[in-house]
Amino acid sequence: MSKRVGVLTGGGDCPGLNAVIRAAARRSLDRGHEVVGVREGWRGLVDGTFEPLGAREISGLLPRGGTILGTSRTNPFRLEDGADKVLSTFEGAELDALIAIGGEDTLGVAARLHREHDFPVVGVPKTIDNDLSATDYTFGFDTAVWTCTEAIDRLHTTAESHNRVMVLEVMGRHTGWIAVMSGIAGGADVILIPEHPIDIEEACADIRRRHERGKDFSIVVVSEGYELEGLAEEKELDEFGHVRLGQRGVGHALGREIEARTGFETRVTVLGHVQRGGSPSPRDRVLATEDWYAVARAFFG
Ligand code: F6P
Repeated sequence: MSKRVGVLTGGGDCPGLNAVIRAAARRSLDRGHEVVGVREGWRGLVDGTFEPLGAREISGLLPRGGTILGTSRTNPFRLEDGADKVLSTFEGAELDALIAIGGEDTLGVAARLHREHDFPVVGVPKTIDNDLSATDYTFGFDTAVWTCTEAIDRLHTTAESHNRVMVLEVMGRHTGWIAVMSGIAGGADVILIPEHPIDIEEACADIRRRHERGKDFSIVVVSEGYELEGLAEEKELDEFGHVRLGQRGVGHALGREIEARTGFETRVTVLGHVQRGGSPSPRDRVLATEDWYAVARAFFG
């Protein structure tokens, strides 16, 4: 029997989202189902904003970054009657099922709606941070690691030419996956991550030892969630109550500290949203497409 399936993307955008939308829509259309795009994450189900997802709309999506559906960090459980609005919009739009593509927040809402209201939803895990349980890799991560690795390669040339310490701050929330993978791939000299918070003095000692050995430049990669002693507590929170880690300025604080302790000229680069943008890597395109097949099995057997 033909079904009407909604698709939404929530949370931070991520390379590979469009590849999932494409795979989901292609397979559903092939099987005679109708696919409807929900605009801007859960906000689209609160406000009732949809768009068609037919063969024309999904054409040429595989290499495209971002999400054609738009996204937001809307949490319906934080809005007055938000969850009820989601349920009534869903029913009013005559949807039979929803594919929610997102990270822990978007999928947390999906799981709660399912638990409390038997909401027919299947989740597709997504995040550049690679910080989700029950899956080894999330699409978007590989692309982000490529981007950060390329940045490290480029920073090397300036570091060498100017005899500087170059600090690169990367994303990852409370995990250091992006920092570790790109740091190893790019040959960083020091990698600072939240899970294994080595002391700043230890990092400076490593840098000094390099210089004593005649290497008068160093590359330091720091994950945005690294806890640097004395760093002011950032109070800015998103709709899910998470601290906006990129605003804490850990990279700049670290750069100042390294320069003060070692006396070596230090520069800081905060890569920010550059690492979330652009075309997905081949691996992410494949993973995003495969993720959909797992969902397809859950839906169609
Ligand atoms: O979860 C993905 C992520 O890019 C994190 O690495 C980062 O802390 C956060 O999103 C940034 O969020 P926003 O785009 O809302 O600034």
